[in-house]
Amino acid sequence: MITKDQLFEALKPLIEPQYNKSVVELNLIRDVLFNGENVSLSLIITSEDEAFKEKAKSYISQTLEKLGAAQVHVRFRLMTDYERNQIGNNDAASAEQPKSTQPVQPPIDQPILGEKSTVEFIAIASGKGGVGKSTVTVNLAVALARQGKKVGIIDADIYGFSIPDMMGIEEQPKLVDNVIIPVEKFGVKVISMGFFVQDNAPVVWRGPMLGKMLRNFFNEVNWGDVEYILLDLPPGTGDVALDVHQLIPQSKEVIVTTPHATAAFVAARAGAMAIQTNHEILGIVENMSYYESKDGTKDYVFGKGGGAKLAEDLHSELLAQIPLGAPDNHISEIDYSPSVYKQDSNTGQLYLEMAAAIINKLEK
Ligand SMILES: Nc1ncnc2c1ncn2[C@@H]1O[C@H](COP(=O)(O)OP(=O)(O)OP(=O)(O)O)[C@@H](O)[C@H]1O
Ligand SMILES: [Mg+2]
Repeated sequence: MITKDQLFEALKPLIEPQYNKSVVELNLIRDVLFNGENVSLSLIITSEDEAFKEKAKSYISQTLEKLGAAQVHVRFRLMTDYERNQIGNNDAASAEQPKSTQPVQPPIDQPILGEKSTVEFIAIASGKGGVGKSTVTVNLAVALARQGKKVGIIDADIYGFSIPDMMGIEEQPKLVDNVIIPVEKFGVKVISMGFFVQDNAPVVWRGPMLGKMLRNFFNEVNWGDVEYILLDLPPGTGDVALDVHQLIPQSKEVIVTTPHATAAFVAARAGAMAIQTNHEILGIVENMSYYESKDGTKDYVFGKGGGAKLAEDLHSELLAQIPLGAPDNHISEIDYSPSVYKQDSNTGQLYLEMAAAIINKLEK
């Protein structure tokens, strides 16, 4: 069985032609996944240079097969401008600067919580667990990015972090000049407790430390020029939810519920907390609303009307009704993720419409 270290060591001789440096040193090997004897990974490329892709693919396959891999799957993804900047940051003396290099990001000079901050914060809340807050957070963020917005996610579910896994993020944030650089995927910058916990060990911190951690996510992270930050809250109306309300008084909220009447009743508590702390409720998302058969008939498996009732009770609006169904993603795809719906899927379109409605509401 190959280890990750062996893999990286073995791939060091592969040179990226534009930077003329090892793909390992440049941190271009991502998303390494082992599935039994099979290995899949992504290679970040600087251009669609077919000759290099061909060469890299056969080099990686042959090298890893020599190490004992049965099947090797290599995905390619074009480097984002953000990643180019990162390389520029880490390696200013790089032999040849790529043509489209943008100015290197300065250290944090615009605190996202500062008075001058223009960042729109949207907290995703619910009255109880398992209704799809994290799923909504991830897909709304990706949809806002697909609409051209600069977006970040703070996984504020410190104990129950799930965002990195749900988005299929395998990398760790980098530390540049003692500042944390969030990991970017699907055009969304992400920070999560999951990045700072070894081997999925449980987090056993108490209240005050939780608040501190959350503050670090704002103050010690270089968010660059984000326009929207979505916060995935832990379920319920506990300490962290309250912390967020106090830390970001200007935050707006989206409340997630399932269509069942009791779920909506419980979700109303999260809504009441938002109202008490003067947070504007942007709207309600009813998740797992129905199951749609191939012939188009809708089966309201978990009841009907919870979202609309909640919207009415909270004097807000129903932003979307998301049907039951997992994303149609496969692990061999470029930018694989377990929870992000494709843009052209039915649910992907619903999220795009929701993002458009929110942009319209906030930028009017
Ligand atoms: N529309 C949907 N159709 C099918 N499965 C869904 C849907 N939305 C969410 N799920 C699944 O339901 C489970 C719970 O979703 P998710 O983790 O997003 O909820 P949550 O409210 O964040 O939970 P927690 O309170 O534990 O943080 C996950 O396994 C997720 O993949
Ligand atoms: Mg969650």
